[in-house]
Amino acid sequence: MAGRALPTSAVILAAGKGTRMHSSRPKVLHQVGGKPLLAWVLRAAREAGCQHLFVVVGHGADEVRAELGAEDVTWVEQNDQLGTGHALAQVERHLEGPAMLLVLSGDVPLVSSTTLVDLVDLANRGWGAMAVAELPDPGSLGRVVTGANSNLERIVEALDATAEESAIKWVNAGLYALPAPEIFAHLADLETDNAKGEFYLTDALTAAAAAGREVALFTLPDSSEAWGVNDRRDLARIQQEVLRRKTDQLMAAGVTILDPGVTTVEWDVEIGTDTVIHPQVSLSGSTRIGSGCVLNQGVWIRDSTLGDNVSVEPYSVLDGAEASDSCRIGPFARLRPGAVLLAGARVGNFVEVKNSRLGEGVKANHLAYLGDTTVGAESNVGAGVVTCNYDGQAKHHTEIGRNVFIGSDTMLVAPVEVGDDAVTAAGSVVNKDVPPGALAIERTEQRNILGWAKRRIAWRKNKKNT
Ligand code: UD1
Ligand code: MG
Repeated sequence: MAGRALPTSAVILAAGKGTRMHSSRPKVLHQVGGKPLLAWVLRAAREAGCQHLFVVVGHGADEVRAELGAEDVTWVEQNDQLGTGHALAQVERHLEGPAMLLVLSGDVPLVSSTTLVDLVDLANRGWGAMAVAELPDPGSLGRVVTGANSNLERIVEALDATAEESAIKWVNAGLYALPAPEIFAHLADLETDNAKGEFYLTDALTAAAAAGREVALFTLPDSSEAWGVNDRRDLARIQQEVLRRKTDQLMAAGVTILDPGVTTVEWDVEIGTDTVIHPQVSLSGSTRIGSGCVLNQGVWIRDSTLGDNVSVEPYSVLDGAEASDSCRIGPFARLRPGAVLLAGARVGNFVEVKNSRLGEGVKANHLAYLGDTTVGAESNVGAGVVTCNYDGQAKHHTEIGRNVFIGSDTMLVAPVEVGDDAVTAAGSVVNKDVPPGALAIERTEQRNILGWAKRRIAWRKNKKNT
């Protein structure tokens, strides 16, 4: 049969309550791989080249729109969630002419764009098409009964199925290509005489098939594309699958992952070749890691950028930080938002850095807090140094020049500036600017009281005897 060439629009059904999630959040905002379920479906639809995207929202609509508001879509309201058939029917008034509707479920995130293109092609060769898969454990998914011509005969929802129908392993993935306006006529005839008391979209397909429409079955190339999220176990299973795909991709591209089963890498994270990732590392958000880095056990990184050959020692936490080539971080370091380390800088154990720029080769190796601070190249920050950046009301800046030596336990009371090549004496509280090359020393002079220890012993003995 000659193919039709209807314009394709995607409709994503995302209004349902998701009762079995037992959540205060809309189901489609739950995340896998660091992104909401709905964002996965939207991305696949866009990559499939859909001209127009409709998203049907209802339960938690404001939250959904707020979280995905940047997306260029038409939001369609389904004020009462009366079922998937009712959800699709809400789109009718927004359509301007005949179209092939790629109808997707907002809770079926692993569908690929190539599948969607193939599904539309198949539908254009006949009347409509739907994606099916054979699953060993079909659970709550609708069962597909095939007719003599290997097209759809009917779909039976799990809750409405007889024992015999429940045993069918072929499931409805909730992904369809259906022609408009024809599908709306079938939706208009829907009844709610089923276990959920809802208008089932699946009943409209069954009715179309009964009316002699060819609904072709498209077998998904990878059955995980059919996995839907109806409860938290479904969510965990898909999360595991996304993680497996991500770590597989990274390893194929030249990243060493010592134990992929205990490594978490969100989908959008990028990692360069020859980087080695030890167990229990977690990488999330927009994190980008360069080549030849080593991320040791227990490292946690979010929304951060590392250059090449950076070594992050065990149990360090980086959030919104940047580190250039050959930096060394940790163990037990904490880099907070706005921490910027230039090439070769070192931040050691129990050092916290926030909104601060550490120049090339800077060392802050032990037990320090650097907040709202700039440190010039090659300067050394001693153990126990604190930039006292907060006066209880406002934050203030500390400026440390190049090649400066900040002695251990110096308190730098901001706003304060320490010039190039200057030194601060250990234990000093520095609240005045230090000129370049100067020594700032602020502490009482040491007294040595000779013979004092012996006298103390004698005094104690004496006290006991009286
Ligand atoms: C549905 C299918 C089932 C299929 C499965 C695939 C029906 C009746 N059943 O079941 O055959 O195997 O998907 O995952 O369609 N939604 C709305 N408005 C509503 C109800 C639901 O927008 O009134 C949305 C939901 O937000 C969800 C999608 O439609 O994103 C599917 O709804 P859900 O309740 O999860 O249907 P399933 O029981 O999974
Ligand atoms: Mg579902």
